[in-house]
Amino acid sequence: MSHEVVEKNAGLMAVLIFIVISIGGLVEIVPLFFSQQTTKPSPGVEPLPAIEFAGRDIYVANGCYNCHSQQIRPFRAETERYGDYSKAGEFVYDRPFQWGSKRTGPDLARVGGRYTDDWHYVHLINPRDVVPQSNMPGYPWFAERTVDGEQVAKSMAAQRDYLGVPYSDEDIAAARELEGVTEMEAIIAYLQGLGVNGGTSDG
Ligand code: HEC
Repeated sequence: MSHEVVEKNAGLMAVLIFIVISIGGLVEIVPLFFSQQTTKPSPGVEPLPAIEFAGRDIYVANGCYNCHSQQIRPFRAETERYGDYSKAGEFVYDRPFQWGSKRTGPDLARVGGRYTDDWHYVHLINPRDVVPQSNMPGYPWFAERTVDGEQVAKSMAAQRDYLGVPYSDEDIAAARELEGVTEMEAIIAYLQGLGVNGGTSDG
């Protein structure tokens, strides 16, 4: 009888559907905000030092995430190619996270240490010099442009003040020392740190 009321009233049905779906969503999502596994950093995971933080901004600004993911799924084909699968605790300080959803190029979650700095330098200037069939664009200006240390310091302070990333005043002061560091040096430092600290074992 009461069900008939719902069936004959599309507006009411829409509201009730919304409530039911919201409950389902909340039950799945809300616990994640409190679970240790998702809110505590994996062992060894630290906020990025200033130069890597600067490199990360360059990564975001140049849209690297359009072609590269940073999340290794728990499947054998992935772990054999890229290394141990990604854990939530590895991304606690990754704001906004760079998981990505498209892999025109390989996943980069654990690319740190896989190549030398020199390899990255040549690859970023012109990828085809080291991987002839690559369709990745070159970023030759990275070698010429320098990092704005004051801007990096402000971004780090914002992550501390508004997002709770535990940076100390010294960490932030280190960003101001970055004057003269090229974008190339910063992004290579960032790439070489990916997956290196923490997250390779349990966590
Ligand atoms: C249009 C898509 C595209 C964009 C944008 C792109 N890449 Fe790539 N990237 C690729 C492809 C394809 C490969 C594999 C071939 C190669 O090594 O060049 C690759 C390879 C790489 C590798 C080597 C990974 C490995 O495990 O061998 C790194 C590191 C890398 N890219 C970094 C970057 C960075 C940093 C940026 C942004 C500045 C970027 N890529 C932007 C497509 C892209």
